[in-house]
Amino acid sequence: MCGIVGIVGTEFKIDELVDDLQKLEYRGYDSAGIAYVQNGIIHITKTLGRIKNLKEKIKPVNSYVGIAHTRWATHGAPNDINAHPHTDCTGKIAIVHNGIIENYVELKEFLKENGHKFKSDTDTEVIAHLIEEYFEGDLYKAVLKAVNELKGAYAIAVMHADFPDLLVAARKGSPLVLGKAKDRLILASDVTPIIKYTKDVVFLEEGDIAVLKDGEYKITDSNGNILIRKVYHIEWDEAAAEKSGYKHFMIKEIFEEPEAIESALVGRITKEGPSLNELKEIDLENIEKIKLVACGTSYHAALVFKYFVEKYADIDIEVDVASEFRYRNINIDDRTLVIAISQSGETADTLESVRIVKKKGAKVVAISNVVGSTITRESDITVYMNAGPEIGVAATKTYVNQLVVLYLLGMNILRIKGIWNNELNRDFEFLKSSPGFFREVLQNLNIEDFASYYKNYNHFMYIGRGINYPTALEGALKLKEISYINATAYPAGELKHGPIALLDPTFPVFAIAPQGYLYEKIKSNIEESKARRARIVAVTNEGNKDLLKIVDDLIYVPKAPDDMYPLIMSPVIQMFAYLIADMRGYDPDKPRNLAKSVTVE
Ligand code: AGP
Repeated sequence: MCGIVGIVGTEFKIDELVDDLQKLEYRGYDSAGIAYVQNGIIHITKTLGRIKNLKEKIKPVNSYVGIAHTRWATHGAPNDINAHPHTDCTGKIAIVHNGIIENYVELKEFLKENGHKFKSDTDTEVIAHLIEEYFEGDLYKAVLKAVNELKGAYAIAVMHADFPDLLVAARKGSPLVLGKAKDRLILASDVTPIIKYTKDVVFLEEGDIAVLKDGEYKITDSNGNILIRKVYHIEWDEAAAEKSGYKHFMIKEIFEEPEAIESALVGRITKEGPSLNELKEIDLENIEKIKLVACGTSYHAALVFKYFVEKYADIDIEVDVASEFRYRNINIDDRTLVIAISQSGETADTLESVRIVKKKGAKVVAISNVVGSTITRESDITVYMNAGPEIGVAATKTYVNQLVVLYLLGMNILRIKGIWNNELNRDFEFLKSSPGFFREVLQNLNIEDFASYYKNYNHFMYIGRGINYPTALEGALKLKEISYINATAYPAGELKHGPIALLDPTFPVFAIAPQGYLYEKIKSNIEESKARRARIVAVTNEGNKDLLKIVDDLIYVPKAPDDMYPLIMSPVIQMFAYLIADMRGYDPDKPRNLAKSVTVE
């Protein structure tokens, strides 16, 4: 997810463009840049790091047209070269882009054969040269032809040095909003930078192309047909707009999970099945041991991988928290694959674990959300989660995308080892459709009453079995870290070995209980908890009337393959924790004592 702003109109200070960009910094902040036209020349300033670095670099100049971008890297490490805007060979066309172009490699080859020279590793620069390839004096027509060749997601703003009164924009898969103020037209990734100029906005729709010129905008479809788009009046203030109207970033990021999953799947689904190109450099066929190392939520995602893969393959899979792993004498050989999971890519214990196993000769696959983060630079390969920036301290969409990437990784390993069957095929089909299932869950997730009932308990016991046990761990972590309720989690079969002594009417149980493998076992654990007069809330699959007789509160998710319940149940445990924390008067985005990235030991 990146942030784009474009302005065209009467003369304005470039400072204003950067101030507008600042309001989109929550969308990405590893690098930033601006481009504007002055005396028939495009001037570009770019910087690594946050927008404040850009502010320090720009000159106090004016212009009539400008575009700006704050980046969340997906292709190409964060640096001055890869920062947007990008230009064509002539330097007369400049572009900023939010999205992922799936076919940029093929297009880059085609353009190189036609003599184009590239400066960056980004997919975005390819769009600038493609527009140049088709430019014959009309920027709109060149953009129209170029975007019709793009596969993937894009929101772009394009300018040309010879037309300082013109901006062309296009969107497919990434948002773009237009606003018409009295002295300018403004274009942005969302309404936040626009509403100080005007509260009347137009949301470009899939395939729309817009021409902004002389105080007016024209919108067409990809065939050039004129479109009329509704003008919306936005009531939000700027703070609310940054959260798209949600009360907190955490709830916004939970609702971003469907498109986050879509971004994680882009370029990784083929007709034959899952395909992680990043793995091509690793000889997975000879892997006999897999060790996963992570912390917190990332550790829970690693456990799901273990349950998933060991169900089908005789591979020795071990998972450990990094703060323990790094002090053990780990037996590593050249048939050991280490998977290090860290959404921030900066967690000290996980980084140290990577360094230790690298010294022992292990191949390390990093799974991270931050392009160019330390773990990506110290591992052999990185599979990016592509969840976009996560502002809330509690991991939500990054956990979901870790699961998606780990399922894909597990499926790749199984396929390479010649292991594939109908059950795995059903898993794969579900994974591909999971954005739709997430939209369905989020749309029907009305658990405010449950949260309100449970918000005053001081304890909670989460239980699960098999692949659903990590979901219990993650549910308990979510609740404890943002509501400060003493939430604990156990494998359900462990209750009778001690934890059940805790249960009474003051100690409710949250059971992860889909029908399927081990269901009868978890059901008996629920019954034994009920017998201790604990109140029981359970999450299960639609159609399961069985538990209605036993539990006090039941939450449904769509029926899924056994292996996929950790994925489809994650919004439930996240939402339950979020609602309770909010109802208890805490700020879920900034929980006490916690940091988004634990870079200390
Ligand atoms: C999760 O909600 C927490 N914020 C925390 O447990 C986190 O998952 C852990 O610190 C690991 O972070 P990482 O994925 O960035 O390494």
